[in-house]
Amino acid sequence: MSHTAVNPLDDEHADPFAIAAQAAEQLRDATGVEHHDIALTLGSGWAKAADLIGETTHTIAATDIAGFSKPALEGHVGTLRSILLPSGKRALVIGARTHYYENHGVRRVVHSVRTAAAAGASVMILTNGAGGIKDHWVPGTPVLISDHLNLTANSPLEGATFIDLTDLYAQRLRDLAHTVAPELDEGVYVQFRGPHYETPAEVQMAKAMGGHIVGMSTALEAIAARQAGMEVLGLSLITNLAAGISPEPLSHAEVIDAGKAAEPVISALLARIVAQL
Ligand code: HPA
Repeated sequence: MSHTAVNPLDDEHADPFAIAAQAAEQLRDATGVEHHDIALTLGSGWAKAADLIGETTHTIAATDIAGFSKPALEGHVGTLRSILLPSGKRALVIGARTHYYENHGVRRVVHSVRTAAAAGASVMILTNGAGGIKDHWVPGTPVLISDHLNLTANSPLEGATFIDLTDLYAQRLRDLAHTVAPELDEGVYVQFRGPHYETPAEVQMAKAMGGHIVGMSTALEAIAARQAGMEVLGLSLITNLAAGISPEPLSHAEVIDAGKAAEPVISALLARIVAQL
């Protein structure tokens, strides 16, 4: 690894919420924006939405903000953007996701969500690129996340912190998304650890357990968002049929290409949803 700057979240005695508060303060200093209303994490395929939802007034390198890491993946832009929405509300767009498979610990995975909450956001929109289990989902299909199966065997919550997840992917926000795009299908997102794709047997396991979408992000972030009292909206772009659902082998390049091809359409969709918030 070329970047060796110390991340304060790597100190196990540090308070992750204090570091998120510090990050939010640095955002206020850098932007002059006191309060962000909503936050969006833009995963593969979704990045263009940032240009469509409003006017970007500030772009900050994520690595200038406490606790953020360099993105591990090409196609993931390492910036935080403050966007003025037509409604006058403020959106914080997080283009810097730390994945669980990077092995930096769950605190770093959910730091952007905690920072968004500390910046004032009450709605967290989590997007990703993922594999589809329903075989009528062609690559390029956007899907609402209705619930999740967290197969990481981990949690962002530490100690005896019991958080209700009954309505984690808020019905209110899903209803609102459906007013904009009635055709949006829904599915249960299954977070695997990755970074390998699933085996066909694992995809069948996920299906038998009630899953419809397989990916390597989002569930841990959603839990942290709920802990912070935010409402969560989750959207997956189906970039490929999950392993074994289609006879084709999976390739990261094809996943990226499917994301690029679908980007204009799903970004416009997301912009229309944000306009309703
Ligand atoms: N599995 C897990 N993660 C993914 C996939 C998949 O099939 N496609 C894109 N991200």
